[in-house]
Formats: sequence, C-alpha cells, structure tokens
Amino acid sequence: MLPSSPMVVPPGLSVLLTAGQIRSRVAALGREIARQYPPGRDPHLVAVLKGGAVFAADLIRAMARPLTLDFVALSSYGAGTRSSGPVRVVGDLMGSVEGRDLLIVEDIVDSGGTLAWLQDTLRQGRPRSLRTVALLDKSSRRRTAVSVDHVGFTIEDRFVVGYGLDLAERYRELPYVAVVDAPAGLAEESRRAAGAS
Ligand code: IMP
Ligand code: MG
Repeated sequence: MLPSSPMVVPPGLSVLLTAGQIRSRVAALGREIARQYPPGRDPHLVAVLKGGAVFAADLIRAMARPLTLDFVALSSYGAGTRSSGPVRVVGDLMGSVEGRDLLIVEDIVDSGGTLAWLQDTLRQGRPRSLRTVALLDKSSRRRTAVSVDHVGFTIEDRFVVGYGLDLAERYRELPYVAVVDAPAGLAEESRRAAGAS
C-alpha cells in the first residue's frame, strides 16, 4: 500500500472506513484466506474489474503465498447507484479454469446478482474449488442468495465510494471508503463535469 498522504475528503463524502482500518482488515483476510489452500494448491484469483482491482492488489500481497491472478470485467451498472439490468461480460478470462482452485475477488456484494451470475458461470468451467472474498457486504440488500466465504466489512445500505469503488467513474483513487451523502446530486454533478448532457 502507498504511504498515506494527508487525508482530503471531497465535499459530499463522509469517511466510513479509514485507510488504516482497511489495511488491517485486508491483512487479516489475506492470512485467513491463505490458510485455506495447502502448499501446492495455489489459488487462482479472479478479480472483478474495475473496483476489485484495488482490493486484489493489496490482498495478493497480504496472502503472501504463491498464487495466480486474472481479471474479469462485468457490467450491470450505468452511471447510477442502483443495479440495472442483466450482467454483461465485458472482458473475459485468459485461460481455462478447469481443475483450478478459484477465488473470486469482489469489491462489494449488494443485491448479489452480479456475484451469483459469476459463480454460476465459473462453475460451468469445472474448477476444483470456488470460494469468494468481498471487501464489503451490504447484506441487507441481498435479493439473490449467494455464498460469500470471506467478508471484509458488513455495511449498511448506503452508497459508498473509494478504494476502487466509484460513482460514475469518480473516487476510485481514494485510500478510504466513504459514504456518498446525496448520490443522485453527486452523480449529476460528475456527469456535467464530464461534459455529458
Ligand atoms: P449487485 O449485483 O447488486 O450485488 O451489485 C454488485 C456491484 O454493484 C458491485 O460489484 C459494484 O460494482 C456495484 N455496487 C454496488 N453497491 C455499490 C456501492 O455502494 N458503491 C459502488 N458500487 C456499488
Ligand atoms: Mg463490482
């Protein structure tokens, strides 16, 4: 993780999880997950872009054991703050998952739709095992039953950004996780800033 710089919180955001809280939880998750895989059974991590990339980057170092890493890009979201429509695969995995010990790395599980779809799709490739880690779990919003083996933090039903999570592509770079005070207003503002109508 990069050395921490003085924390600047943009207007409209309130810090929910500090960089320090995230760092220590990710370290614990890394140890907990690494224990699941005996020597010689190197896990193959499938991180979900884009949000999961930041978490995966820290998690692989916290796991401190041999592993392989791939990314998949999915999309069920527009620029809003609620899931919309079915999941689409935008970018696919590099190789076969057959016989591998897969670990899905997600930033956040909300309704569960995205994760349920990804788990089903990966199971069709006949992996040896399939586990999931999510940094954040908004468990009260679950609509699709889905198993999450490791959770960083269970959070309330609030729209959050930072540490990879975005609102209309903004705020991914923040080292902390923040609640958006008025998601609709901020989304509109960022659309205007991007020059969209
Ligand atoms: P689900 O299919 O409803 O579980 O949606 C999961 C996906 O929605 C996550 O992987 C995120 O990309 C996005 N998402 C859900 N809640 C939030 C949030 O509070 N902030 C940012 N993205 C979110
Ligand atoms: Mg996601």
